Amino acid sequence: MTFSQADSIIDQDERDKIIQYWNDALLCSPESSTSHADPDLAYLDNIIENHILAESLQTWGAQGHNCLDIGAGYGRFADLFKQYYTHIVLLEPATQIYTRLTSLWGQDPQIECHDADFESYVDARSFDLIFASGVLYLYSDEMLLSFARKAISMLNPNGIFLLRDFISLPDPRVLASSYVKDGFCYYRTPQFWRELAADLGIELLEIQRSKPALPWLRNKRTLSLLQILRLKRMFRQKTIINAAMRWGSFHLSHGHIHTVFIGLRRL
Ligand SMILES: C[S@@+](CC[C@H](N)C(=O)[O-])C[C@H]1O[C@@H](n2cnc3c(N)ncnc32)[C@H](O)[C@@H]1O
Repeated sequence: MTFSQADSIIDQDERDKIIQYWNDALLCSPESSTSHADPDLAYLDNIIENHILAESLQTWGAQGHNCLDIGAGYGRFADLFKQYYTHIVLLEPATQIYTRLTSLWGQDPQIECHDADFESYVDARSFDLIFASGVLYLYSDEMLLSFARKAISMLNPNGIFLLRDFISLPDPRVLASSYVKDGFCYYRTPQFWRELAADLGIELLEIQRSKPALPWLRNKRTLSLLQILRLKRMFRQKTIINAAMRWGSFHLSHGHIHTVFIGLRRL
């Protein structure tokens, strides 16, 4: 066995553990990207993230035929992608999540669902957008690099590689995952993404916070109080969502880990 074969077996083992985690834990609601979250807050965040993403896609003049969402979960960005691309491919390797994904989107003529992980997925088509949300922060740098190389090779010239991931400022942080067995969470810096883009010969379009800070709302005590007062459903009201978007901070502040959209373009 060569070193690179042994290396890729280790990577595959890591990926299997990550996918097994999602398959067991599932996502807490159709609008959520994660297993442990408040479903009402996830509803608000999802509307805001779709709004922010739409603005970026418009700014970049995004449009085209094929779009690939890697690790689509329950497909919470699928409706948005349909406005910019004619054909959407949703990949989801966690069987239990995939079952729900197909029940939500399987009948849509613009959408194709596959029960596969990206690394083993084979597709001769090329794409105008490749998107991955909540996938790469669990990947080591080596795994991320081969993921990014494969994604870029599947893009059309000027195609967009778009990530929803986490940024740590001012320094990177690697923390043991509380959920994935022996796994780690890699919170990278804007500098990491700038260097990756330069190494891969692609353009870094932007790093933009995907949702506002709202520390007073994300506080566990506030959430429990609102739950007791049966007021948590207010996160689903248009006025509250608009206010959160308007008054919440989108600043990338030091000392924090932020959820961001990272836009990259193949040259
Ligand atoms: C944090 S969840 C995010 C779900 C969805 N993208 C969202 O933002 O709502 C990550 C998803 O990626 C999937 N995933 C993990 N590794 C993957 C891989 N190598 N290829 C494709 N999907 C993967 C998981 O099964 C899980 O459903």
